[in-house]
Amino acid sequence: MSMEAGFELGFSTLDSEVADRSLPVEGSLPDWLDGALVRNGPAVFEVGGDRVAHWFDGLAMLHRFSFEGTSDEVRYTNRALRSDTYRRAMATGEISGQFATGGGYLQRVRQLLFDDPTDNCNVHVARVGDALVAMTEVPRFRSVDPETLETVGEFAFADALTGHINCAHVVPDPYREETVGLLTTFGRPSEYTLYRLPDGSRSRERIATLPARDPVYVHSFALTEQYVVLTEHPFVTNPASFLLPGSESFVDNYDWEPERGTRFRVVDRDTGEVVATRVTDPWFVFHHVNAFEAEAEGRAADGPAGDADELVVDLVAYPDADVVDGLYLSAAEDWFESGQDGQLRRFRIPLDGGPVRSERFYDGLELPRVARGDRTKPYRYAYAQGAAERDGNHVAKVDVETGDSRRWEQSGLFVEEPVFVRAPDAERPSDEGVVLVTALNTTDERTDLLVLDGETLDERARAPLPHAVPFGFHGRYFPEW
Ligand code: CO
Repeated sequence: MSMEAGFELGFSTLDSEVADRSLPVEGSLPDWLDGALVRNGPAVFEVGGDRVAHWFDGLAMLHRFSFEGTSDEVRYTNRALRSDTYRRAMATGEISGQFATGGGYLQRVRQLLFDDPTDNCNVHVARVGDALVAMTEVPRFRSVDPETLETVGEFAFADALTGHINCAHVVPDPYREETVGLLTTFGRPSEYTLYRLPDGSRSRERIATLPARDPVYVHSFALTEQYVVLTEHPFVTNPASFLLPGSESFVDNYDWEPERGTRFRVVDRDTGEVVATRVTDPWFVFHHVNAFEAEAEGRAADGPAGDADELVVDLVAYPDADVVDGLYLSAAEDWFESGQDGQLRRFRIPLDGGPVRSERFYDGLELPRVARGDRTKPYRYAYAQGAAERDGNHVAKVDVETGDSRRWEQSGLFVEEPVFVRAPDAERPSDEGVVLVTALNTTDERTDLLVLDGETLDERARAPLPHAVPFGFHGRYFPEW
């Protein structure tokens, strides 16, 4: 079986760039929508006649959609990141040092250990100080002009923290006015470094260093008001073997080891202490949805503030790490069609012992988002890319209090990560606001920006782009830009 004709557009190179183009808008935009959605993702898949092997390896392109408040106008800019990797690829006709192209994930890991980490920052964007920074999974960063998306240059933090793997999913906490992030360092011993980055600063401060005898692939983590929750699924490396230059056997040492289970490590954000460690059945995770502190059911709500009994961690779980193989370009169409078995699951982690409990909210979603103001807090609504069925996928909205869900879909459309922007005068955890989501329109062979109602998911507005954009990863809405 194969996808509807046109689906392959989602994995086809986009090499045209437009600057500050006014898009035609059908429908109307809320007056308060005044800012920019900036998205990142792979967009150039062929260089010199060769095609990269893995979706994650396409060369980065940034996209900016800006909203002007009272006018129903959307302005659009897209620009390939002028990274060293990009320049070298254009000059030599080869792409090297990526996620899986040229020998597999571990080869990339080894390459970055031995000094040529890629700066193809195609995973996410974040604000650091006054800079818009494009990020990937190694600690090289590119700063980008937030208006024009011109590549400004290499971005450097003003601190001495180092690592081999950078978790591109940093978590901004607007309540504590800081962003929390994680680095993985291979060595003897290997370790995870949790850090905080105060708003307005370029200098990261260490929260904790956690030893990791067998480090795992950490794509994201969970954050509550008081705790960081590191989720260690059993997708495990043995760094001792691949630290040996010339070792040919390291690939065999990066494995799905389900007998280990999946482990939560709970770290206090103030003291850096590990306050709980719990192991559950094994599953794999890319993305955490949200997390917060709660009192156990049945306990009177009379404890002092911050005296949580348990942590609630919502995430998208897979039965195993096969999803990583499923995203090779040779397999991606089949995976999008048949797989996408990510489940929205809730885990309750008791802080004083006792087993982790879990429940399932939704089968078949990825790229989950919550409102910026809901992070670290009890919340109700998660938005996500729902799995593909026949000739399109859907936007999923899940009420994690009731378990109810809604969906928006249209034949021929493949939506990407939906970004919910709450109306500025609406109170948490309201769903009053809009969902900004790009969608590959395989019927018209272009991408559409959709503006959906946050409560009903009804379509409020649509702005067709002048081209089809390949499937990307993540973005953020910046009211200030
Ligand atoms: Co991600």
